[in-house]
Amino acid sequence: MSKLKITFVTLKLHNFKSHRDLTVNFGEHTEISGDNAKGKSSIFEAITWLLYGTDTLGSKLSPEPITYEFDLTLVTLLLEVDGKSLLLGRELKKGKTKYSINEVPSKATEFNGLLEKLFDKELFLSLFNPSYFFTLHWEKQRAMLLQYVTAPANKEVLAKLPEQQGKTLGNLLKKHSLEDIEKIHRSNKAEKDKKYIAAQSRTKTLKEQLETNAPAVPLESLNAEHDQLVKERNEIEKVTDSAGTVNTRINVLNNQIKTLLDERDRLKDDFKALKVVPIQDTCPTCKQPLQEEAVAAVKANRQEQIDRVKAQFDSIVAQRKELEAELATLEYVDVSEQLEKARELQTGINQLEIEINKHRQYKQLQEQVEQAQADEKDVLQSLNESIFVIDSVKAFRAKEAELQAEKVQALFGKLSIKLFEEQKNGDLKNTFEIEMDGKPYRKLSLSEGIRAGLELRDVISEQSGVVCPVFIDNAESITSFDKPNGQLVISRVVAGQELKVEAK
Ligand SMILES: Nc1ncnc2c1ncn2[C@@H]1O[C@H](COP(=O)(O)OP(=O)(O)O)[C@@H](O)[C@H]1O
Ligand SMILES: [Mg+2]
Repeated sequence: MSKLKITFVTLKLHNFKSHRDLTVNFGEHTEISGDNAKGKSSIFEAITWLLYGTDTLGSKLSPEPITYEFDLTLVTLLLEVDGKSLLLGRELKKGKTKYSINEVPSKATEFNGLLEKLFDKELFLSLFNPSYFFTLHWEKQRAMLLQYVTAPANKEVLAKLPEQQGKTLGNLLKKHSLEDIEKIHRSNKAEKDKKYIAAQSRTKTLKEQLETNAPAVPLESLNAEHDQLVKERNEIEKVTDSAGTVNTRINVLNNQIKTLLDERDRLKDDFKALKVVPIQDTCPTCKQPLQEEAVAAVKANRQEQIDRVKAQFDSIVAQRKELEAELATLEYVDVSEQLEKARELQTGINQLEIEINKHRQYKQLQEQVEQAQADEKDVLQSLNESIFVIDSVKAFRAKEAELQAEKVQALFGKLSIKLFEEQKNGDLKNTFEIEMDGKPYRKLSLSEGIRAGLELRDVISEQSGVVCPVFIDNAESITSFDKPNGQLVISRVVAGQELKVEAK
């Protein structure tokens, strides 16, 4: 907090309203007295006119005399700012304003800039004129008062919250501001509100499906029946399969036997033909009878042929006999009845498998229901978390406001200050009301109003660290008051008395 002390030393008026020439020397306590219309209020106005060109409430002021001839209006004020002298002057001549700082002519921007740097205009006027503060908009009043009161620290507020709320918010505040935390959880709440409704309806739909798809026959008995039918079918297939092998073998044997018979008949013919062909005993070329030796060779050759055919014939007959012997051991089996039974069994098996498959689908549906219920639970948890955080933020704000109000209230004696107002929905709304003895400022009498204004300007002076003179006009209306923070200038009406200024 910046400390600043402003002290008025000498004020000089020249052609300011009814004052032709007046010098006021200020003390720690300056009393201005005189009858009505002796120019007491004009002295205070001269100060704000010099500084800002306004009256003591900040409205534009034209102080040129209207009751006598004059050349120019001039006000100078010698003041001390933190012990350093400063002489300010404002002159108005034929509608033109001139400024001076320490007797050096200055531009309006220089003059105004210097003042701005010294002290805030609203702060000065609030301290100088105890009724000025109340003319400001309530939001400005509130801001001005709170500007100088340090807000309670987060830690301080968190410690006063219910434990779980304090813990949760404390962790969240490590990463985000309170505003951002609220934004994040408001948006999550909106999202999860919707998702929760959707999740609930999904669970409901799936549960209904589950009910309508509940299998009538238990899986164990379906499986048992299925196993039984499969076993029966497999037994039959064993028979039909082996019957198939025998029957096929019979067909093969019959075919082979037939082929061998054909072969045998062909060899028979060959044999007959060989037997009837005459033996050649003449040379086919020279037609001369062959020699005995040659004839013998031909005969031998013939015998050889005959023997070969005979051997073949015997072999084929033997082969056939072997096959016929095997065929004689085999019997054709008729399995058409069994095949029909197997088909029936297969139909039953297929139907059972459809039922078993329904159980599988039912189980999947059950899993989906469980998943949907788990999803629903997760969404609800997230939703509840956000609701909890939002409530915690609200509680934080309320507690912060309460602590701040306590802090502000602790600065005052007679006045009570209202900074917040609870709305219907429980949220807090900024407000600003000052009451004294249970009465709002606007209802106070003149003296009560002055008292309220003095207490308030002293708090602002202490909190801002700015000490400056206060002026109390028409102080005859108030019997006694505590010495304010800074120089005191008061005016009193004294009947039949000329204007008198006494510095004490
Ligand atoms: N521009 C002006 N020129 C001349 N006289 C003025 C001007 N404005 C106000 N006055 C008069 O100056 C006198 C002093 O006024 P004021 O300072 O309010 O007196 P007080 O506060 O002592 O009652 C009044 O008679 C008022 O009418
Ligand atoms: Mg007056």
